[in-house]
Amino acid sequence: MDIKKFYYLYFKVRDEAKDVILKEAELSEEEYARFEGELAEEVSLIKSERSNLTAIGADFVHYTRYIYESAPDTAKGVIRPDAVSPWSGEILQLPAVGVIDKPEMKLWDAIEKRRSLRSYADKALTQAELSFLLWSTQWVRDFRSNEKVEVAFRNVPSAGARHPFETWLLINKVDGIRPGLYYYHPIKHGLVLFKEGAELAETVCHASLDQEMVKTSAVTFIWVAIPKRTTWRYSQRGYRYLYIDAGHVGQNLHLAAEAIDSGACMIGAYYDEGMNEILGLDGKDSFVIYMASLGKRIPPEA
Ligand SMILES: Cc1cc2nc3c(=O)[nH]c(=O)nc-3n(C[C@H](O)[C@H](O)[C@H](O)COP(=O)(O)O)c2cc1C
Repeated sequence: MDIKKFYYLYFKVRDEAKDVILKEAELSEEEYARFEGELAEEVSLIKSERSNLTAIGADFVHYTRYIYESAPDTAKGVIRPDAVSPWSGEILQLPAVGVIDKPEMKLWDAIEKRRSLRSYADKALTQAELSFLLWSTQWVRDFRSNEKVEVAFRNVPSAGARHPFETWLLINKVDGIRPGLYYYHPIKHGLVLFKEGAELAETVCHASLDQEMVKTSAVTFIWVAIPKRTTWRYSQRGYRYLYIDAGHVGQNLHLAAEAIDSGACMIGAYYDEGMNEILGLDGKDSFVIYMASLGKRIPPEA
C-alpha cells in the first residue's frame, strides 16, 4: 500500500473533509476521485471494524490469561517451526564475532549515556561495528535442531528460547557495503542482499511516517516477527511475548550503539501495510514488529 492510499484511508475513515484529505494525503483531484471509487468498500469495512475496537488492548490482556489458554501446537503434534528461516542467496560475510575488537565502554557508562539519538554524523559504520551490533541483538550463539524441536540461543532472552525475529537492515552507510535492504543470517553471521539502491532509504522513511532519521541513519534495523515460532509453544499468549522479546532486542541495540560512539532511536511509528509490503510480508504469518535507526554521534563542537 503506498503512502497516499494509506493517508487517504486514514483520514477518510475519520470522516475528514475532502480538502483536509487532499492536503494530508498530497492527492490531486484525479487521485482523490479514483480512490473514492476504488476504496469505497475498504473504507466502509474499516469504519465498521473501527467502531468495535475500543477495548481491543484490554481484551488482548484479558484473553491471553492462562485461564483461557488453548492447547498449544506442541501438545497437538504440529510439526515444529524453523528457529531460523531457511534463506538462500550469496552471503556477504561480516567480520567474525571472535576477531572484532571489543568496545571498552563500561556497562555503567553505556546505561548512563543512553538517550534516543535522532541526528547522526555523516559517517559510515565499519563492518566490524555492524558485526558487533548484530552480535548484541540477534546473532545465534548456539543452534540445536532435531525432528521434534529446533532452538536457537542468542544474546538476548526470549520466552521459551523461541526467538521469533528475523533482522532486516536498511544500509545507508557501512564501509564496503552497497546501500540497500539486506537480510541478516544469524547463524552464518552474514548479509544477503534483498534489494539494492540508495533510494530505498526514501521508501522506508515514508513507511516510517516520514521520520527523517531513517534517511540520515548509517543503518536502520527492521525486526520481523514470525509469531508461529512462539505460538507453537504458547498459543495466543505467545503474542504477548513477541512484544516483550522485541524490547530486549531494542535495549541491547541501544547499549551496544553507545559503546561504539553511536546512538539509536527505536521506531514504533510506521504504517504496517507499507513496511510489510517493502519486505514482501503478509502481515499475519510475518510482520514488521519494531525498528531502530542508528548512526555515529555528531562530535561536540570544539
Ligand atoms: C516502543 C517504542 C517506540 C518508539 N517509537 C519511536 C518513534 O517512532 N519515533 C521516535 O522518534 N522515537 C520513538 N521512540 C523513542 C522514545 O520517544 C524515547 O525512548 C522516549 O522519548 C524517551 O527518551 P530517551 O530514549 O532519550 O530516554 C520509541 C521508543 C519505544 C520504546
